[in-house]
Amino acid sequence: MFKEIDVRALNENPVEMIDGRWLLLTAGDRNGYNMMTASWGMLGELWNKDVATVFVRPQRYTYTFMEAQPYFTVTVLPDSMKQKVHGICGSQSGRDIDKTAATGLTPVFDPHGVYFEQAEIVLVCRKLYADDLRPEKFVDTAIIEQCYRGDFHRVYVGEIEKVLVKA
Ligand SMILES: Cc1cc2nc3c(=O)[nH]c(=O)nc-3n(C[C@H](O)[C@H](O)[C@H](O)COP(=O)(O)O)c2cc1C
Repeated sequence: MFKEIDVRALNENPVEMIDGRWLLLTAGDRNGYNMMTASWGMLGELWNKDVATVFVRPQRYTYTFMEAQPYFTVTVLPDSMKQKVHGICGSQSGRDIDKTAATGLTPVFDPHGVYFEQAEIVLVCRKLYADDLRPEKFVDTAIIEQCYRGDFHRVYVGEIEKVLVKA
């Protein structure tokens, strides 16, 4: 179903992948998990490790799982599923609905996280660092006006431990 590849063999432009195709960010395990749409993030290199960085506002239900779990996954779905899945996962909360049932996604329970059988790309990431964005640290303070109402993101940097692509 999936084959594991080196992250350097990933044939995607990271900006287009994140901002264009969008990510499904998932944290949890078979006892409970949640996923949400994310279109802000980075892929790159830090502390001599290949990393993915994601930004999660504290009011997200996914935040609870991001805090509780040592791993998170980043999934890219086929473009044909974008509208349906992200229409639900980007606007509704797992507190209110069963997103797995609503989207029809099939969870795969990895020892290190949850992803979905329908995925085209999966990054399994081990949390290395988490911190909150702080208003006093913005150099361009216009961003605060443009993007925030007091709900500053928590930043999670994760080491990309496994990259899976559809076989
Ligand atoms: C295109 C798009 C991108 C989004 N990117 C992010 C993001 O990077 N970080 C974030 O906290 N919320 C982001 N959201 C909002 C969450 O996906 C949304 O609030 C979701 O319903 C949260 O679900 P949850 O409460 O089940 O975690 C985005 C929404 C959309 C539609």
